[in-house]
Amino acid sequence: MTIMVTGGSGQVAQAIGRHAGTLPVRVVGRPDFDLENPASITAMMESVRPSLVINTAAWTAVDAAETNRDSAWQTNALGPLTLARDCARLGAALIHVSTDYVFDGAKSGAYIETDATSPAATYGLSKLAGEHAVMTHCPRTLVVRTAWVYATQGKNFVLTMLNAGRSRPHLRVVADQIGCPSNADDLGRCLLALVRQMEAGWQDSYAGIYHLAGSGQVSWHGFAEAIFAAASTHGYMPPTVEAIPTSAYPTPVQRPANSVLDCGKIARRFGIAMPAWEDSLRLAVADILKAGA
Ligand SMILES: NC(=O)c1ccc[n+]([C@@H]2O[C@H](COP(=O)([O-])OP(=O)(O)OC[C@H]3O[C@@H](n4cnc5c(N)ncnc54)[C@H](OP(=O)(O)O)[C@@H]3O)[C@@H](O)[C@H]2O)c1
Repeated sequence: MTIMVTGGSGQVAQAIGRHAGTLPVRVVGRPDFDLENPASITAMMESVRPSLVINTAAWTAVDAAETNRDSAWQTNALGPLTLARDCARLGAALIHVSTDYVFDGAKSGAYIETDATSPAATYGLSKLAGEHAVMTHCPRTLVVRTAWVYATQGKNFVLTMLNAGRSRPHLRVVADQIGCPSNADDLGRCLLALVRQMEAGWQDSYAGIYHLAGSGQVSWHGFAEAIFAAASTHGYMPPTVEAIPTSAYPTPVQRPANSVLDCGKIARRFGIAMPAWEDSLRLAVADILKAGA
């Protein structure tokens, strides 16, 4: 079994690489594997000949997707379509990572996999089109939607907050958007646990959409407060954090007010669940501060 992980230097791809252990994982990235270049996708698939692909690569810059629509669509929808076709042709299964942003956030309560999708803008629309494309072109596909991903490196809310708090004594953070902070290491470990169960052989009942995110829920403001509470136990001087409404922090693309994912299906089907978001956050903040970031 060879497992090809796309996403190069990305948070989730790197986490999978870190936790692969004895699993034969090969992480691929640009320029050798470029979702905007279909020939590079097929060439990499022919070279690696994986039995399983985990596609974490994506255009993840939500606001910038509006001014780079072609690239976002190529990366999130058309590239995955080519990848799925190649998986089907070569007999590989596909785990395709997707997003909470396929929902509009209007639901009260956690989203389940069968809830109606209604993305707000290019990022969510292109990711939703990617979901449809991969499931259509590769029957052996699991779409795994996650949310609010952070790691000890990369571009994410935790590092942004810790950096901002060093230079500013007072921060204002949105309190009326809720979601499930997801630690990339937890996500990587859970995806690998999924892979280990699939090692025994493909079952048609595996195919479908699953939600997988940190357990529990919080607002961005609560998330920020938890980051600073964890950091302050390591000598970090926390700023004050003011709760503000979304209307006071306009962004080019409006984020869903409710991004909470119900992860019961993957727990029931595979016995896989991510830890409580607060526990993982405390460990990650400690690692970040110990590393001097
Ligand atoms: N970050 C979040 O908060 C979040 C939330 C929900 C869902 N997700 C989903 O989770 C997955 C992983 O996200 P992440 O947090 O690991 O994102 P990330 O850190 O932004 O990594 C994505 C990686 O994709 C690669 N990539 C970008 N364009 C590419 C292209 N044209 N061809 C090939 N590779 C390309 C880049 O790697 P190289 O530059 O090394 O090639 C990039 O590092 C994505 O599917 C994303 O949609 C993320």
